[in-house]
Amino acid sequence: MIEAIYSFPRNFLWGTATSSHQVEGDNTNNDWWLWESEGGRIAKGHRSDKACGWWDGRWKEDLDRAAESGQNAHRLSIEWSRIEPSPGQWDEDALDGYREIIKGAIKRGLTPMVTLHHFTNPMWMAEQGGWLAEEIVDWFERYVRRVVGDLSDLVKLWVTINEPNVYAYEGYLAGLFPPGEGSMRKTYRVMRNMVLAHAAAYHAIHEIQPEAEVGFAHHYRGMRPANPKSPLDRWIAGYRSRAFNDLVPRAASIGRLHFLGKRESVPQAAGTQDFFGLNYYTQEHVAFDLRNPGELFGRGFFPPDADLSPTGFIANVPEGMWVALNWARAYGLPIYITENGVEDDEDSVRPRYLASHIRQVWRAVNFNWRVRGYFWWSLVDNFEWERGWTQRFGLWELDVKTQERRKRSSADLYAEICKANGLSTEMVARFAPEAFGEIFPGATLPEGEQA
Ligand code: BGC
Repeated sequence: MIEAIYSFPRNFLWGTATSSHQVEGDNTNNDWWLWESEGGRIAKGHRSDKACGWWDGRWKEDLDRAAESGQNAHRLSIEWSRIEPSPGQWDEDALDGYREIIKGAIKRGLTPMVTLHHFTNPMWMAEQGGWLAEEIVDWFERYVRRVVGDLSDLVKLWVTINEPNVYAYEGYLAGLFPPGEGSMRKTYRVMRNMVLAHAAAYHAIHEIQPEAEVGFAHHYRGMRPANPKSPLDRWIAGYRSRAFNDLVPRAASIGRLHFLGKRESVPQAAGTQDFFGLNYYTQEHVAFDLRNPGELFGRGFFPPDADLSPTGFIANVPEGMWVALNWARAYGLPIYITENGVEDDEDSVRPRYLASHIRQVWRAVNFNWRVRGYFWWSLVDNFEWERGWTQRFGLWELDVKTQERRKRSSADLYAEICKANGLSTEMVARFAPEAFGEIFPGATLPEGEQA
């Protein structure tokens, strides 16, 4: 019996998010394909290969799954290397391919949100300096104009770039993404160029399609001082959070870049978001550590009592979603949660992670914060970058060899949430009884359900 339900507003978007390279397969013309072929780069030598077979048409069955489970939106990305295989040359068949996918989404009742850059670059562009090149802003704008010119009759919600901060840190500081560099100076340069490219894309999209809603997807990582009483821990947590969390959205808001004491004015970037795209996964503790100059004398870690995902990649910290939303709303824009999720092959953490994060989103909605939609990462297990297939984020499990899909219990939970446009006591009692007290404080767990 339903005792209580956290209801969401009418027209709230419920979806899942995917990205081209992670699901399509055979993206042979981008920098990741090359990176994967080099050996030693990806866990267990995994390759994206056929990925989830979307370019061979399997997007149809997956979008069927999404629609049948009550979702009304889908976030997907366009692969630049398919559209523009060499500079200024357009592949019309590839554009038609995306038209078909997006039309397919709409036909199934899924509002498309389309990302124009999600970590991968055409080989020609990487070879000519990638995101460090002076010309990158023009290259990106040229590509964006072509795609938006072609698809503006179908798509209204555009995400220019996915996670500029993650892309820059992983590729240019941690060296885990191509081109595998380790330079703070280049990391800054890339973030700066991404801000400029986003701004150019924002203005170009509005010129072509005035009614478009344009933003980027920002990765917010919660960072708390390990010891709140230690001034050094507090300082380093704030410092790292400003460098990682604040730099890009601030620039897109006020037109100023501020990084490690360096200031630069980028007036063309001011006010270039119609919505705030928020990716939130986890929150870490940060301690001051003199032995770690490479990471700005800080060390991030999950505390020993954290509720960890199976590979220890993510700690389940739902309050961090609330903190992230509270931080994001200061920008005064409508918010979409463009990603939230956890890797969990056995689906042992995912149901409680999903339910308790949605409860935090509901709290925000209930305070009249302008949260417009939620996209779970991800629909089906997909290629997880340098972690290959060792991490499984899908509502559906994928057998990479046979391409068979198997539904996880979280898929049923999410379907019930989407269909009810809310989260009820009864759902939590069935799917995540261990989190019942946290999600519905004061309510009674129905008899027969085990906490
Ligand atoms: C990225 C996704 C990725 C997910 C989980 C996000 O930072 O946008 O591409 O799969 O994290 O690792």
